[in-house]
Amino acid sequence: MALDANVGNILNQQINKEFYSAYLYLTFADFYEEQGLKGFANWYVIQSQEELAHARILRRYLLDNDWTPTMEAIAKPDLTFTKVIEPIKAAYEHEQFITASINECYVVAQKANDFRTMQLLDWYVKEQGEEEANASDLLKAVELFGGDPKNLYDLDLENAARVYVAPTMPM
Ligand SMILES: [Fe+2]
Ligand SMILES: [Fe+2]
Repeated sequence: MALDANVGNILNQQINKEFYSAYLYLTFADFYEEQGLKGFANWYVIQSQEELAHARILRRYLLDNDWTPTMEAIAKPDLTFTKVIEPIKAAYEHEQFITASINECYVVAQKANDFRTMQLLDWYVKEQGEEEANASDLLKAVELFGGDPKNLYDLDLENAARVYVAPTMPM
């Protein structure tokens, strides 16, 4: 069964948002590289890889449902930072924006009685819960301990240990 046009279009827009997220997180990594915080940079490089995976899963889903994706232009992230905490705050806000966007996809799928897409989006809903929790945990840690250079050093080491794990889909 072909996808409802509203569903196809909004999932296509979501692909673009995931690519934008990947782009955004790379700029965060660049800022941390510049600051000499390679662990924080590593964290956001891995976060960027996750976002690319989110985009790829949506692309595959569209193709498997006879919808040809359109790769739209990716906007230039225009945030500039001076403090260690700023990208982390921006990341938390961005993940909340993405959660709202996934929820909007869900509403459109629900309106179209598209249960298959709703199942796909169940995974994204859960994933966004984890994304927000991770972003919030990191924000709290930097708020609490980031002001002290020794603690910041330890946090950087902790973030350096993060490794990329490809997301596994339940479908
Ligand atoms: Fe994502
Ligand atoms: Fe994300």
